[in-house]
Amino acid sequence: MPAATLELDRINTFRGPAQILREVSLRVADGEAICLVGRNGAGKTTTIDSIMGLLPVRSGRVAFRDRDITRLPAHERALLGIGYAPEDCGIFPDLSVEENFQITSWLVPPGGNARRGLDERVFSVFPEVQGFMTRRGLHLSGGQKKMVAITRAMSLAPSILLLDEPFEGLAPVVVTRFIEAVRAIKAMGISVLIAESHLATPFRCRSRRSGSIPRRPRRPPCRSSCSTRCTTRS
Ligand SMILES: Nc1ncnc2c1ncn2[C@@H]1O[C@H](COP(=O)(O)OP(=O)(O)O)[C@@H](O)[C@H]1O
Ligand SMILES: [Mg+2]
Repeated sequence: MPAATLELDRINTFRGPAQILREVSLRVADGEAICLVGRNGAGKTTTIDSIMGLLPVRSGRVAFRDRDITRLPAHERALLGIGYAPEDCGIFPDLSVEENFQITSWLVPPGGNARRGLDERVFSVFPEVQGFMTRRGLHLSGGQKKMVAITRAMSLAPSILLLDEPFEGLAPVVVTRFIEAVRAIKAMGISVLIAESHLATPFRCRSRRSGSIPRRPRRPPCRSSCSTRCTTRS
């Protein structure tokens, strides 16, 4: 079995008094693309926020490359190599795209990893971003915001990218462009975890299918394992 980039072991996460995740386990191997598929409200974003450290895990374990990161702050997880493109993109509307990237660069300590920053490799996924570097976040289209969010995550040289609903709200032709981008990221050896509400689109990102999709039409939100889930390996 390939080494695990990321492993969740029976995590339980609450939002206020409400328990959202119950005993969720998940494994993403090196270079693998995993699709976490479930209806709205199933707990996909909660799972990703738990991995990123934006929500505290009440119990269970989150491991990145065999290191226990369950209690590590979010910015340290980003520096370790967990990239995140949130559902709402998290772009500062009053800042230009370039300034949005600068904020990410402040995370990197001086003399850190030389591969971090906006090099050709980062822009190779979405070269079109270089055409609107001076535009303010407010004036970007939905698709452009998603491109900026993914490019920004790539600038920290991640080993794994967490993409929350990357295809949501995109026109079909743009979805095809984003699927190409996910394939390009995988080809760089970066693992990908995609959270999506619909099965068809993330399935187009895989090279071959190795998991099974439960057929039951209604499932409880993220209990004992991750909702409806498909596993793909490259
Ligand atoms: N801030 C919040 N406070 C309380 N409950 C929340 C909050 N955000 C989401 N939830 C609830 O948590 C559950 C899972 O939400 P979420 O992880 O966003 O699901 P998904 O991403 O699969 O649509 C939903 O039932 C939702 O209503
Ligand atoms: Mg969500």
